[in-house]
Amino acid sequence: MSKFITLEGVDGAGKSTHIPTIANLLRAQGKEVLVTREPGGTPLGEKLRALLLHEAMHPETETMLMFAARREHLEQVIKPALARGVYVLSDRFTDATFAYQCGGRGVSADKVRQLETWVQDSFQPDLTLLFDVPIAVSTQRLAGARDPDRFERENGEFFERIRQAYLARATDFPQRFRIIDSGKTLKEITKKLEEIVLSI
Ligand code: TYD
Repeated sequence: MSKFITLEGVDGAGKSTHIPTIANLLRAQGKEVLVTREPGGTPLGEKLRALLLHEAMHPETETMLMFAARREHLEQVIKPALARGVYVLSDRFTDATFAYQCGGRGVSADKVRQLETWVQDSFQPDLTLLFDVPIAVSTQRLAGARDPDRFERENGEFFERIRQAYLARATDFPQRFRIIDSGKTLKEITKKLEEIVLSI
């Protein structure tokens, strides 16, 4: 049985570093793995990503474009891969909309739930790895980044709200969330990821 696994966390939490590790751990178990990302993952989705990361827009426009990209991603990439028995690892999914657009920008969670039902019906990740780190640490990591996008340019309070919104999602959906303490060393995190992958 294939699985849909999503990776979440504030910008600078380090999830991008760990995605190849998770993919390799799964491949070592003989699974076929597809790594993808949101917003993006399809040709149209990548065009929407460029707009989302660089054009000023209303927070609800931002929310709807996230779901527009997601609609394509689900139909063209995620669901067909799962149907072929492939494990799909997505760098962000709908929890990011609840965290960034609701927690960060103040968009109504009810509206986002309506879009979620519209676009996904009852489809949800099988497993969500939340890379959690204090905002003081993630912003320090981001400070080295060249050419920050619209999200990365936001202040610490914005990211603190996002972090809390992610943690609240993890509390609400304990059966699918695993929280990874991203402040730990690379070696410790890799060990934790090995445990999680073995338990899948
Ligand atoms: P990110 O994974 O951080 O890309 P990169 O590591 O290449 O910078 O994703 C881009 C941004 O999109 C990130 O700041 C979070 C934001 N985002 C949302 O605000 N809502 C969403 O639903 C998704 C999927 C992403």
